[in-house]
Amino acid sequence: MRNAIIMYSSITGNTEKVAQVFESVLKAHNFNTALEKVYPQRDYASGPIFFDDCDLLCLGAPIIAAMPYRELSSVIGWSGKHVELFKGPRPNPSQPGRLRAGIAFSTFGGTVAGPRECIPTLELEKEYLQLYGFTPVGQFACPGKQLRHGPVDELNARLKIDIDDAQALLQRFMDDPDSAEFTSMDTGRLEIIRKVASKMDFDENGNPLMAGEQVMFDNDPLGNGMKGSKYIHYNLQDRPHQRDLKMAEYFMTEIIEDFFLTADGQIRQPMGAMYSCIY
Ligand SMILES: Cc1cc2nc3c(=O)[nH]c(=O)nc-3n(C[C@H](O)[C@H](O)[C@H](O)COP(=O)(O)O)c2cc1C
Repeated sequence: MRNAIIMYSSITGNTEKVAQVFESVLKAHNFNTALEKVYPQRDYASGPIFFDDCDLLCLGAPIIAAMPYRELSSVIGWSGKHVELFKGPRPNPSQPGRLRAGIAFSTFGGTVAGPRECIPTLELEKEYLQLYGFTPVGQFACPGKQLRHGPVDELNARLKIDIDDAQALLQRFMDDPDSAEFTSMDTGRLEIIRKVASKMDFDENGNPLMAGEQVMFDNDPLGNGMKGSKYIHYNLQDRPHQRDLKMAEYFMTEIIEDFFLTADGQIRQPMGAMYSCIY
């Protein structure tokens, strides 16, 4: 049996959806699979995740301000706190030994530059993979909706916290306003969060409106009954949608078939190829 670890960070759940699809495809192919969401608060010293027996490591993160969300980097990145990820010696990437495969993945908005925006994140994730002795064989990135900017920006300004912390805080509040975090919170701070959360706007399908703007336009530019879209990623307020998740499923299926279902049972050498699904 082969072992896979999917290690990812996710604030609003988009990247998590892709991670879960990867998990189900791997399990369906008989991989022993661990889905590991990164929590910087977790005590990795007493609850370690070891990569020694891992044959396929998937690293995923949303793009926040052009880089992978720092929760992933805070645990395994160059600037991360020291976390022991190997029981034995760490594989030396410059000395080829047993082949271990790696996948970089992300979800992103691409509202400024489209797919170009996911490249630095995927590149950094591939650096991390190589740092830990995993050979990148594939990369996947698909669009993901983002919460309306206005409320997140307001929280950032009023609580004087980072923009990504503001996004994460607002998401936790929307998920469970009665959790211990909020019932034990200073009432003034809680009132600010409550007021800001009440300003979140959603469209008629319950999808968050992006930046308070109209995303889709009833202009039918091709005359085929489909609306026009403001952003390069069509229907961005509803991503990743079923087709994105199908793409993730097909991508991971290709990786497993081509690199693991080999004639000699060994992981196939990538021979310079990178399986890419970026859009
Ligand atoms: C504060 C913030 C900054 C973001 N910056 C970028 C960015 O620079 N480029 C981009 O393509 N997407 C950006 N996004 C969009 C996220 O990458 C996208 O919403 C992603 O799918 C979120 O994934 P998650 O639900 O797993 O947290 C940003 C989102 C937030 C909240």
